[in-house]
Amino acid sequence: MKILVTGGLGFIGSHTVVELQNEGLEVVIIDDCSNSSETVLEGIKAITGKMPQFEKFDLKEKALVEDFFKRHQDIQGVIHFAASKAVGESVSNPLRYYENNIGTLVYILKELVKKNRAQFIFSSSCTVYGQADKMPITEDAPIKPAESPYGNTKQMGEEILADTCKVTPGLQAISLRYFNPMGAHPSAKIGELPIGVPQNLVPFITQTGIGIREQLSVFGNDYPTSDGTCIRDYIYVVDLAKAHVLALQRLLKARNTDNYEVFNVGTGTGSTVLEVIQSFEKVSGVKLNYKIVPRRPGDITKAYADTTKANTILGWKAQYSLDEAMKSAWDWEQVIRAKG
Ligand code: WQD
Repeated sequence: MKILVTGGLGFIGSHTVVELQNEGLEVVIIDDCSNSSETVLEGIKAITGKMPQFEKFDLKEKALVEDFFKRHQDIQGVIHFAASKAVGESVSNPLRYYENNIGTLVYILKELVKKNRAQFIFSSSCTVYGQADKMPITEDAPIKPAESPYGNTKQMGEEILADTCKVTPGLQAISLRYFNPMGAHPSAKIGELPIGVPQNLVPFITQTGIGIREQLSVFGNDYPTSDGTCIRDYIYVVDLAKAHVLALQRLLKARNTDNYEVFNVGTGTGSTVLEVIQSFEKVSGVKLNYKIVPRRPGDITKAYADTTKANTILGWKAQYSLDEAMKSAWDWEQVIRAKG
C-alpha cells in the first residue's frame, strides 16, 4: 500500500511520514520545498531506516499532478499537508493563499474521484471555529466567518471535501482540525524549521532561549483569562502525527460510518502564553527574556479542544504533556543551532 503525503517535508508532514513508515506503509512525498528542505529526507531515514520516495514539484501545476497520478496508479491513500499557513501573510497576499491552498486541493481530488476507491486525509485547523462560544470546542461548534484568508482556505477546503464526498461514494475522507502543533521528534533528527522570524509562539520562545532572538513579545495580557494572556491547546507533533495514521487506517479498513468525517486533534487542555513560558523555563533551566506588548490583531482569547470524538471513535488520545513537548522543542533548537 503506497501512501502519498503532500508537503511531507514540512513540520507535521515529516513527522507523519515517520509514523506511516513505522506502521510499515510505503510513502511517496510530493513537496515543492518552498517552505521546507530536502535535508528533511535524511532525518526521516535516520529515524526509520527507510528513505521515502520523493518528487519535487509544485502542486499548482495541474499537468504535473495528472502526470504523477498516471505514473503512480497504485496510490489510493493521500494525506494532504501541502499549503501555505502564515495567517498574517494570507491577509496581505490572499490570492496566493486561495491559489495554493484551494487550487492544489482541487487538482488532487480530481485525480482521486477517477478511482473506484480512495482515502483522503485533510489537514484542517481549529482556526475554522474562530472564537468559539463554548469551551472545550466540539466538532459541531458553529463555523464562524473566517478571520483571515488562511482560515477561510481551511473552511473552504472542508466544504469542497464534503461536497465532493457527497457525490463520490468511492472517496472516503477525514478532516483533522489541529489545535496548536509544537515540539519535535524525540530523536531530534526532525522538527520545526521556521524560515525567517517565527510567527508561532513556541519556536519564537526556543529561539529566544538559545539567543537568536533578543526578546519574546507577549501579545497582550489584558484578556479575560487566569493571567490575562491567551489560551491555546498545544499538541505535541508526534501525537498529532499518530492521529493521521489512525485516521488513514480507519478509512483503509472501512471503519468509517460516513464517507466524510471531522475530528478535533488537541490535548483537551488549554495553556496560557505565560504557562507556556513557565514550561520552557522549567524544562530548559533558562530564564526567558520577554515583555508584554499590545494585543496582536486577529488573535482569539481562547481555544482548546473537546477530544471526545477522537478518543472514542478514532481511538486516539494525546500521550505527551506540555512539558514533554516543550523539552523536545528545546532539544531540537539546541541541535539545529549546534549544526550552525
Ligand atoms: C499562540 C499564542 C499569540 C507569538 C496559529 C494558526 C493556527 C495553527 C497554529 C496551523 C497567541 C501568542 C505568539 C509571539 C505571542 N496553525 N504569541 N508572541 O495564532 O494560536 O494559531 O498557529 O494549523 O491555524 O492560526 O498560534 O503560535 O501564533 O500564537 O504572544 O511571538 O501565542 O498571541 O495567543 P495561533 P501562535
